[in-house]
Amino acid sequence: MPNQHLIEKIEALKADTNAIILAHNYQRDEVQDLADYTGDSLGLSIRAAQTDADVIVFCGVHFMAETASILCPEKTVLMPDPDAGCPMADMITAQQLRDLKAQHPGAVVVTYVNSSAEVKAETDVCCTSSNAVKVVQSLKDAQEIIFVPDQYLGAFVAKQTGRDMILWQGYCPTHMRITPEHIQRQKAAHPAAEVIVHPECTQPVVALADYALSTEGICRRAHESGAKEFIIGTELGVMYRLKNENPGKTFYPATEFALCPNMKKTTLEKILWCLEGMKNEVRVPEDIRLRARQAVDRMVAIV
Ligand code: 13P
Ligand code: SF4
Repeated sequence: MPNQHLIEKIEALKADTNAIILAHNYQRDEVQDLADYTGDSLGLSIRAAQTDADVIVFCGVHFMAETASILCPEKTVLMPDPDAGCPMADMITAQQLRDLKAQHPGAVVVTYVNSSAEVKAETDVCCTSSNAVKVVQSLKDAQEIIFVPDQYLGAFVAKQTGRDMILWQGYCPTHMRITPEHIQRQKAAHPAAEVIVHPECTQPVVALADYALSTEGICRRAHESGAKEFIIGTELGVMYRLKNENPGKTFYPATEFALCPNMKKTTLEKILWCLEGMKNEVRVPEDIRLRARQAVDRMVAIV
């Protein structure tokens, strides 16, 4: 079906069902164009919490839709492709976190939003890449801090805050594909370029960057910077916004390998199908939701 016809059908269904479409910055270009709001994990959670729509079509990965469901149980949260997961979120289970907590009684648990609802239910405070430093800075009285599941975001936050944290060994397979050699090669080719990476990148990559920021932070920095050229170390989907929002500037991806296959699973067709049949609802069981809610509320309160 040609895109325009699809888009018209989706828009009509959106109006009939009072739906909103939220999309992450890594989504396909045409999904970003269709969305009512495109942003990072924190921005998307805040939008989900604030919307008066009855239905949220979440174009992202599973933990993002779950977070929306934790925040707004009265709304119907749909995922165009229910198989769009995040491998990093699957790298720790609730039982593994309970075992770690048992080894460190009294430690405060900070969990990256890239995690399951069950893991969030074992957590004191969640964070995203955009507020992780502020979240840890807010824990002034904590004797010990456990940070799960991303070891690289954890290491970045530990360095920024000067706090020694107990880190889980999770990682993002997409950001692992960005190597220091990629950055060095691009820097040699574009010596005037500012280097902005995501803090899920490995420490040697972050060490070569001028900034390590969330996807929304990358967009904001590129817009505000006086530089004319940028080397971008994150998933390639963000390049679409960067180019659209900054016509006079040039953006070079650190590598063309930084693709998140799960983020690309959402298509216009799948958005139409899920809205047509109100299919693929994501709902967190109430006992888990109530236990996770406090940690997620604390996350969205720290911007
Ligand atoms: P942001 O919150 O920075 O958009 O990151 C989400 C993510 O999954 C990065 O890989
Ligand atoms: Fe998960 Fe990495 Fe994909 Fe983000 S880019 S959703 S962390 S696999």
